[in-house]
Amino acid sequence: TSDMLVDSFGRFHNYLRISLTERCNLRCQYCMPAEGVELTPKSDLLSHDELIRVASLFVASGVDKIRLTGGEPTVRKDLEDICLHLSGLKGLKTLAITTNGIVLSKKLPRLKECGLNALNISLDTLVPAKFEFMTRRKGHSKVMESIDTAIELGYDPVKINCVVMRGMNDDEICDFVELTRHKPINVRFIEFMPFDGNVWNVKKLVPYAEILDKVRQHFEGVERLKDHPSDTAKNFKIDGHVGTISFITSMTEHFCAGCNRLRLLADGNFKVCLFGPSEVSLREPIHSGIDDAGLKEIISAAVKRKKAKHAGMFDIAKTANRPMIHIGG
Ligand code: GTP
Ligand code: 5AD
Ligand code: SF4
Repeated sequence: TSDMLVDSFGRFHNYLRISLTERCNLRCQYCMPAEGVELTPKSDLLSHDELIRVASLFVASGVDKIRLTGGEPTVRKDLEDICLHLSGLKGLKTLAITTNGIVLSKKLPRLKECGLNALNISLDTLVPAKFEFMTRRKGHSKVMESIDTAIELGYDPVKINCVVMRGMNDDEICDFVELTRHKPINVRFIEFMPFDGNVWNVKKLVPYAEILDKVRQHFEGVERLKDHPSDTAKNFKIDGHVGTISFITSMTEHFCAGCNRLRLLADGNFKVCLFGPSEVSLREPIHSGIDDAGLKEIISAAVKRKKAKHAGMFDIAKTANRPMIHIGG
């Protein structure tokens, strides 16, 4: 089934995001409630071998980019092994990770050897005390150290994900831009999105246009770069800066028309859109002994049900979904 990954709008999905775990060593406010979330029992999570089987099937069907997410993917004990298996799949070009960077620094040299070739690190503030408030944990200096390790190891660009929230970190936008003057990083300002348990409110959302205005007021020579058609980010360069900045405008200017992303969650559910409750279990049929052809049919049918675009921020905020910690972004 060569059209397994093509939806009814003709979008071909070559990018699979795999959530490796529901656990995390931080408790970010925009991702989960203070009390945490209920974890799926270990026996109901996809096993290592099941995960590799499903990933192989996707790569054989045309996926050439896999991103490991979570929870926090680096808390997974077999992460190196997973990277080794996945990077060995014929046809896979990009093996990426999105991580909070807390325990990344010492693991990264080995992960690079295992084939991890793209790196996004979440960092929402440059102020240690604020980091502790936003993440409800300590560790700011560890993240900063991981960013430098990533640069030293030659990851280029190291992408920094910064979720902007009004009254929280919107006073640091120019400080983040300043970081790109000498560091080969790509700072990505992300609009705050609603998920179960994150107390989303439109007042906390800082629209992309507003962030860009602020940047233009403080920096000369801010210029739009050409985007890749399926990029989540709108990219800009700034005169004299080694790094670049971008905006991920999911709320005020969605980019669904170019969507190439599918998601496999830690519990083996397959999710065709970040938003909306629509999920289908791959784990259950796997446990009932389904063959690859059967799995492909289930995947294909789900992909064909994918909507043209998300429902708009206010409807998203009202619709049942999962907490971000379960989806992995
Ligand atoms: P690259 O592959 O480096 O471009 O990264 P990415 O943007 O695909 O992934 P990352 O995990 O770094 O996510 C950055 C932000 O984009 C997060 O806030 C994600 O939730 C958001 N994001 C990722 N994929 C999608 C998507 O398909 N739709 C929407 N609306 N947002 C997404
Ligand atoms: N809105 C926007 N981005 C979010 N992320 C987590 N929660 C949210 C949210 N509510 C980001 C993380 C991480 C990426 C996977 O998603 O910061 O970088
Ligand atoms: Fe793709 Fe859904 Fe994200 Fe739109 S909201 S870009 S359709 S995953």
